[in-house]
Amino acid sequence: MACQQTTAESGESELFLFVRSALKSMRSFQLSMRFILPLAIVIGISALVLLPLVDDLTQRWFLRDLDTRAQVVAASVRDPAIDFLTMEDAEGMQALLERAAVDGHVLALGFCDTAGNLRYRSRAFPPVLDCRGAAPPATRISETWLEQDGVSLGKLLLAQDTRFIQRRIDEFGLYLTAVFLLMFLLISALAAWVAHWSWMDWVSALKNLLRLETASPSGSYAPPEFRPLVGDLRAMLHQMQVERRVQEDSPQMWTPQKLRSLLHDELAGDEVLVVSNREPYIHEQSEHGIVVRRPASGLVTAVEPVMRACSGTWIAHGSGSADRIAVDAHDRLQVPPARPAYTLRRVWLTQEEEEGYYYGFSNEGLWPLCHMAHVRPVFRTTDWEQYVAVNQRFADAVMNEARTDDPVVLVQDYHFALLPRMVREKLPKATIIMFWHIPWPNPESFGICPWREELLEGLLGNTLLGFHTPFHCKNFLETVDRYLETRIEHEASTISYGGELTQVEPYPISIAWPDTDATLDVVQCRNELRASLHLSADHRVALGVDRLDYTKGIVERFQAVDRMLEMHPELIGRFTLLQIAAPSRSSLDEYQNLEARVRKLAHQINQRYPSLAAPIALRIEHYDADQLARCYRAADICMVTSLHDGMNLVAKEYIAARDDELGVLILSQFTGAARELHEALIINPYHIEQGAQALYRAVTMPAAEQRERMRSMRTLVRDFNVYRWAGLMLLDAARLRRRQRVTEKIHSHSRRSLRRAV
Ligand code: F6P
Repeated sequence: MACQQTTAESGESELFLFVRSALKSMRSFQLSMRFILPLAIVIGISALVLLPLVDDLTQRWFLRDLDTRAQVVAASVRDPAIDFLTMEDAEGMQALLERAAVDGHVLALGFCDTAGNLRYRSRAFPPVLDCRGAAPPATRISETWLEQDGVSLGKLLLAQDTRFIQRRIDEFGLYLTAVFLLMFLLISALAAWVAHWSWMDWVSALKNLLRLETASPSGSYAPPEFRPLVGDLRAMLHQMQVERRVQEDSPQMWTPQKLRSLLHDELAGDEVLVVSNREPYIHEQSEHGIVVRRPASGLVTAVEPVMRACSGTWIAHGSGSADRIAVDAHDRLQVPPARPAYTLRRVWLTQEEEEGYYYGFSNEGLWPLCHMAHVRPVFRTTDWEQYVAVNQRFADAVMNEARTDDPVVLVQDYHFALLPRMVREKLPKATIIMFWHIPWPNPESFGICPWREELLEGLLGNTLLGFHTPFHCKNFLETVDRYLETRIEHEASTISYGGELTQVEPYPISIAWPDTDATLDVVQCRNELRASLHLSADHRVALGVDRLDYTKGIVERFQAVDRMLEMHPELIGRFTLLQIAAPSRSSLDEYQNLEARVRKLAHQINQRYPSLAAPIALRIEHYDADQLARCYRAADICMVTSLHDGMNLVAKEYIAARDDELGVLILSQFTGAARELHEALIINPYHIEQGAQALYRAVTMPAAEQRERMRSMRTLVRDFNVYRWAGLMLLDAARLRRRQRVTEKIHSHSRRSLRRAV
């Protein structure tokens, strides 16, 4: 049986080798044909043009030769002929003509007297030839007049046979064609040979160089002549890949259905597990019983629609006061509550864990570390220990929830930098995709974290690591380069560490394009909002929607409002900023201080401009999605003034809500969104005058300009939606997964071959 198997295997491999060599020959043949065909055409055209030209030349050359010979014969005959004629020596004349006619191409000679009678002729003189010039075909006649003392005696006719000329021309043509043919064969064989070998050499050399596994980071294994090309080629290929990815995916078509079918087609319906700290639905005890709340989080806004489309399991911290009541015995529940589409698996944290991992390391350490908002990060060993422990708790939850050994795990955000490696160690075949929802700092800033190496090692457990912008990717690659011994392919954006490859790519996050809700009439929303704030119908309203966080630039926003009213007092009592600030991380000092500062500043500004309509309406409370949609539609202006922000989805939500194509977006240049939404009024939030000017410009912007800007931004947000964000990551993951499987197959095949050889 074993023997049979071996024969079958060797039969298979012989067949395989035969097919491979046949394919290779075919490829070489095709390659050669690329050189030979043009050569054949060039030589063929040359032959077609040259052959008639050569015929003509040869004919003229022979005719000239015949004429010369005729002249020589005539010259040699002239004098004796005159003598014989004057002496009327017919015999002598006849003998003279016979003698002269023995010359090579002379057919015959004759003499015509002045009356036009053929008096003498050699034997072979053609009967049709006469003194009037009639001549048989293929005969060339030359005439030489003979004179004696100025008296014409008659003319000497010399007939030459020209048939040999055509024969020679034909022969010559034949030789020439043969020469062309030989030349073609020789050149084409030589060209094909040179082309084949040099091409094969180049191609295989380039292939080797471009293969990430075999080339060194600097391409130093490359032969010297290739070295300058290596980096450029890799960068070009990567750039092409990125561009193709962006262009080819026809963004208009990114819908939940497309994402679902992508998952089905590209990832063979593999199971999807999402891990995040913040859960998408929070059950809270309230005086009206248990209520379900959606948290204010860009992460949840983006990932929730993706999970609705893909199903799977979302593992998150159960942070709500009634969360435990809502789950089953396995801490699971089906969500969304109204129309369940996926499983939410809640992980419980003790107060100590939450303080150390969430408030401490994540939000007093990593959050300020990654945001340039001039708040100093705080790193405590106890927080770090909790961070490690909680990452392990969530990694264990992934292992428990996974039904296969190669799930697709989507890890979200800075709370779980260690989890990818923990999962990778237990599920080496898993495809782990992580998205970092906040900015990534430069290497110097990141370097102040005492556990920087551990965090980076954890992150390099990912198959794919996504950031909002190419700039954050670059910062990450440089940070890894600074602190870990890795092999980085900057052009391909990959990091090789411990034999594993992590791809680092930008995936600008977005929102799900909302279905237009007919009940949300813009005019009605405007009137309702103004009525609720006791404002007149034509009152100008700007809107700010944020978590109450020091990175959001809320203080700077208020200062810009203050400055604008200073510069344009005519707007006092006619303009209000409605600031909705969802309470966030309120147990931290920094956030409590911020809240106090924001409240105080709003109060001061409102005091400064006493009027029935206060310039700032501050609402430090949660607004649900429906309330926010109404506010977006009611506001003339939306102010996003973050001091540093990964993307900022409020900007995109405002645009998506404005199906009337009106409204102005003021957007901080320090948001990821500013790299996409160029038609917004882009400002530096630190520059209060600039903010004030932009606000005044927004207040006074004509409707036509608003419409033009809004229309363009709406197209972008609609097309580059969150399904595309997830789709591109999953497509890349599918590609990497295929590569991983092929690599595994190759490795196991070579291990088998090695065992057999031993
Ligand atoms: O943009 C996403 C994000 O800023 C996350 O990084 C963060 O987890 C979330 O929004 C809100 O913060 P939290 O979960 O602490 O309420």
